[in-house]
Order: sequence, then structure tokens, then C-alpha cells
Amino acid sequence: VNWRLPSGCATGSDPVAGRYAQGGAAFNSNKGQWMSAIESTLQEHRVFPPPAHVVAGAAISGMDAYLELVAEAERDYEGFWSRLAREQLTWQTPFTKGLDESNAPFYKWFEDGKLNATYNCLDRHIEAGLGERTAIIFEADDGAVTRVSYGELLDRVSRLANGLRSLGVKAGDRVVIYMPMSVEGVVAMQACARIGATHSVVFGGFSSKSLHERVVDAGAMVVITADEQIRGGKTLPLKSIVDEALALEGSDVVKHVIVYRRTGGKVSWNESRDIDLKTLVEGQSNVCEPEWVSAEHPLFILYTSGSTGKPKGVQHSTGGYLLWAALTMRWSFDIKASDVFWCTADIGWVTGHSYVAYGPTAVGATQIVFEGVPTYPNAGRFWDMIQKHKVTVFYTAPTAIRSLIKASDADAKVHPRSFDLSSLRILGTVGEPINPEAWMWYHAEVGGGRCPVIDTFWQTETGGHVITPLPGATPLVPGSCTLPLPGIIAAVVDETGGDLVNGQGGILVIKRPWPSMIRNIWNDPERFKKSYFPEELGGRLYLAGDGAVRDVDRGYFTIMGRIDDVLNVAGHRMGTMEIESALVSNPLVAEAAVVGRPDDTTGEAICAFVVLKRGRPTGEEATKIANELRAWVAKEIGPIAKPKDIRFGENLPKTRSGKIMRRLLRSLAKGETITQDVSTLENPAILEQLGEAK
Ligand code: WT7
Repeated sequence: VNWRLPSGCATGSDPVAGRYAQGGAAFNSNKGQWMSAIESTLQEHRVFPPPAHVVAGAAISGMDAYLELVAEAERDYEGFWSRLAREQLTWQTPFTKGLDESNAPFYKWFEDGKLNATYNCLDRHIEAGLGERTAIIFEADDGAVTRVSYGELLDRVSRLANGLRSLGVKAGDRVVIYMPMSVEGVVAMQACARIGATHSVVFGGFSSKSLHERVVDAGAMVVITADEQIRGGKTLPLKSIVDEALALEGSDVVKHVIVYRRTGGKVSWNESRDIDLKTLVEGQSNVCEPEWVSAEHPLFILYTSGSTGKPKGVQHSTGGYLLWAALTMRWSFDIKASDVFWCTADIGWVTGHSYVAYGPTAVGATQIVFEGVPTYPNAGRFWDMIQKHKVTVFYTAPTAIRSLIKASDADAKVHPRSFDLSSLRILGTVGEPINPEAWMWYHAEVGGGRCPVIDTFWQTETGGHVITPLPGATPLVPGSCTLPLPGIIAAVVDETGGDLVNGQGGILVIKRPWPSMIRNIWNDPERFKKSYFPEELGGRLYLAGDGAVRDVDRGYFTIMGRIDDVLNVAGHRMGTMEIESALVSNPLVAEAAVVGRPDDTTGEAICAFVVLKRGRPTGEEATKIANELRAWVAKEIGPIAKPKDIRFGENLPKTRSGKIMRRLLRSLAKGETITQDVSTLENPAILEQLGEAK
């Protein structure tokens, strides 16, 4: 077993347990890190019914409509999803079978059906007469605005798709995209999809080493990048990082690098490999016959962190994935032709795939694509843009909300109150648990009390929302992602896969395969089975990797955070092992252990316990080395993986069998007094050393 129960869930007796347990193993606080979160949500009695103006005309209007869909899925699971796949998507060849479970857990959906993702995102809207509709309102870092219609978007996608074909890229080939937030980034993704090439977007904040690792694992034939990116008034390199990455061993799989000139900054050029995007698309036709692929054809691979040091290439399908992107735009965001949708996520993360590149276009919506950061030129940027573009549906991360609360407390000019946000109808959050205080602020100050806050729980692996309120149906409880979408059979189970009653915390699973689920881990089917369908749980339950609890009154879900060695820092997912390997690859470091600790703004913060080969540094030397190590991790993985705290010790606390006592380290990271039995420690004095952060 390579996961642990959320620390609030061990068996035992506790006064709090008595209140929520319904027989069976008692729910025990165990002074666990999630206890306060669970308690505050379970004791959360504020309920916000869906506002009448949203209920009227919502895609799913009222709880009865939701329950009717739940019942339909229960009656005929395969038929339910097949009906929706026919309604939401346009198929070149209709599928004859919904779900194929013959090779479980490698499930297949709609496999003999053929379609093209970009036909669904672009051509069909244009054929319906919507070619003039704005697809993307792009706002650059400096505030410059460009509008791109559906007609123009198809034009650009087709030219680049033809350009890729001219370089020999064909269906099934992999293309890595390492680009800034831009129209070109979305075009690059869809151009791949146009010709059936599988894209793998790598977030522009990852280092050359991380990029290299992904390029090699994916076996990418082409990399699409930009000269530089601009964020918060600063220029950051991209092309030179690609050059560094491709200088490393094994990179000769890459035949071409396509460069979008964003800034015109000077970059080095390899004549036999590098091509200017503009030159590539110039001579190309704006007509590109789509490649009709099986619904199971891999649309993309997206690398994410797991329990080991090596990132996992999460492989998604075309049909099931696109169904989800379209369906959840309608169900969770109630998207309409008149909406202006804005998801602030970067295309480097799954949120930017499902709710920037594919979801909004699949339903023909108008959306904002934003190049910059929420704090530039000041922390009112989001509110200013909502006001300027009359955004109606806004989707962002709890971390952003928490940092903007702080900023607007300090400066009234950047407070949402100083802007006209009356265009807003629906608010969404994603990426990490939202604390009830931040939820209330978002609801009241940003949404003016009129907009439902849609707390969408999902993961890279789920392809799109799985547990989420519906704006026109679900009564909201701050801090809870409420109920599964119709057809999602989510449950909380114990360590053997047995159902737990409401009120008991446990392991979050999904009991039946759903269309947009992960299909495989690229190059590693064994890891796919072990990570997501572990034998310990019977081999058929999808293991999300999070702890959860359902409340007794409504069965609402509250997510308690990861139960594996994965951290969630500012909504970014990171493996403790990845950071540990980066640290120990530094010549100064003998040993390192990384844990998360709660943080007011970023949710979790990275805390590294480090043993140096030369002995424990103190004072200024310790500060200096800590900063060196942070810079090292930034270079190895990317700045997002830099440890906030670094603590030096002569050694690490271990059990007699030599296992690092991570639970103890988590307590130390939080600054708790150690109440655990430490009699087995070789050197209890190190606890004092490790309590001091650098
Ligand atoms: C992990 C997945 C989903 C797209 C962005 C992150 C956490 C995500 C919520 C939420 C509580 C959440 C979970 C999950 N998470 N959304 N609404 N409430 N936790 O995707 O990088 O694959 O991370 O993010 O821990 O497992 P990801």
C-alpha cells in the first residue's frame, strides 16, 4: 500500500468522532492535519440555495432535474453516456457500442465511432453560421486586446495543421508544446488534434530538465515553443530552455522546433532544426481536411506528479474527453451563447486543456485568454478585466482568491468593490480545497451574493469535473464540492475498499468507469493499474488519491487532501519524491525528505528536511545554503517546486528499520509539539534541530 489514510481517519475514540460516526470504526481526529478542515465543513450550516435567476433556464434546472439524470444513469449506465455523446458531439462515423470493459481497467468508450476534436470545436459552429462569433478575446500582459473569431481560429488551426503535415507529422505522432498563454498556444494544441497528432503541453515554468524528461518519455517529433514569454512586465526565456533541454541525451527524437515570435527577442538558431512559425504557416492553405480518428485515439498526454520521482504521462482519449469538456461547460457552468467565459488557468495544466483549449470552443462560447498574472500592474487586474470584458462566468483557483483577499485588505483600490462586477453570473473554483472564509469572500465580494460558487473537484486524470455543484440546482455549502455529476459513482471507502457511512472520513474512489477518465500512463500500463486500480481495493475502484468525507445530512463531499506523497502547492501538484531526488542530486546533500505543511495562501507549502554531507550548517551559512538549494530545485524542476522551508539536521528521524518517520516530519513542519513516541529514535536531539526553519 503506498498511500495513507487521511490522518483524521484512523480508528480510535475521540469526542469529535462520537458526533459524526455512525457505527463501525469511529472517526478519530488523531490530531490530524485535516481535522480542522473537516470539522469546519461538517459544522458548516450556511446553505445557499441556487438563485432563482440562475435556476430559470439552467441546463440542469432544480434538484429534481439533477436526480432524474442520476436515475437515468442508474437505469442504463451505458445508454446514458451514449445518449449524451450523440447529443454533445458530432461524429463522422457513429459509434455502435458505448462502454467496452473487456480489458478492464483499460476501459474504452465509443471506440468504433470516428470524430475529430477540432471539427467539433470549430467547423461545426462555422457550418451553423457562427463563423463571425468571437472565440477568443486575448488580453496581453500589457493590456492590449485582440479578438479572434471562430472563422479566423479555424483558419489559423488549419494553416498550422498543414504546416505540421508538411514537416511529416502524422496521426499518432507526438508534439510537445512549450508555450506561453496565447492564441498561438491554443492554435498549436488544436492544430495537432486536427491531424491526429497527440500533443503534450509542458507548463512554461518547468525547467529544461523537466522539459527534456517529458520530451523523451513522449518521444516527441516536434516541439512548438516561443522565443520568450511575458508575465508581470518581465520577459522570461522559452526557446533557450528548449535548446538546453534538447542538448541533453536522448533528444534526437525531436526533428523540428517551431518558434512563435512573441517578443522578437534574440534567440539562437539551429538552421537544420528550427523553423519560424510565421514562415511555416505562410504558404499553407487555410483548408485542412481533418483526420477522422477513433474515439479512443489519444488526443493528448499531460504529465503530472505521482508518488514516485518520475512524472506520469496521463493519456486521454478524443471522444470521451471531448464529451466531458463540452458537457461540463453546460452542466457545471451553464454556458450560454451570451456568456463571456474566463478560466484563468494556464494551458500547461489540465484546467487549461479542458476549460480553455477544448471546453469553451466545443460549445462555441466566447472566452478570455489572458497572458499575464493576477497581480500586474496591480492586484485588481482580474476585477478590471471582468469589468472591461463583461465576464459572466469566472473560474479561478482558491490560491488566487486568498492572495487577492490579502491584497484588497491592504489596498481599497484593488478591492473588487472598486469595480463594476455586475456582469458576473457564475463563479467557479478549482485545484485545491477552498476554505469557507475564502468561499464566503468570493461569494459576497466578487459575486455580490448573486453568483453561485461552483467548487469543482477533479484531477488531471478525470479529464474534467467529477464532483461539483450545479449552478441551477445544488444548494451550496461553503467548503464542500457537494455532489457527483450524474453518472459519476463516487464513494468514500476504507483501506479494503469497503463502503464507509456518511460522516466517516476515508478514501475517495469512483466505482464505475466514466467517458473522460485517464486511459493509460504513457509507456507504463503497469503503473496505470497499480496507481489507479490497486488490488488492495479489489482492482476495480478508481483511486483518486484524495481523502474525503461526506456529511451526514446531505451526503455532500468534502475533500480532505491527498493521501499519497503528492503535495498541492498553490493548486500545483507536486510529488515529494521528485523534490527529494532534485535535492539529493545536489553535491552538498546527503539525504533529504520533503513534506507539506498548511499555508494560509498556497494551501500547502513545501518543507524540506536536509542532511548535508559536510555536517549541519548554522547561522548565515545555513541561510546561504538554503537559498542555494532553492535555486537548485528551481533549475532541476522549476520555480514552483522551490521549498519554502528548509531545515538542516545531522540526520533524519528514522524507525529501527530505517524508514523515515514522515508523520513526525509533518508535525515538525507545522511547528507542533511532538507527542508521538520517539523512543525508537537513534538521536532524539535532532528533533530540536529540525524544528528550525531556514
Ligand atoms: C488534485 C488534482 C483539477 C484541475 C487542477 C488540479 C486537488 C482539485 C479540488 C477541489 C479540493 C481539489 C485534489 C486533486 N483538487 N480540485 N475543488 N477541492 N481539492 O489538477 O494537478 O491533477 O490535481 O487537486 O487533491 O487530487 P491536478
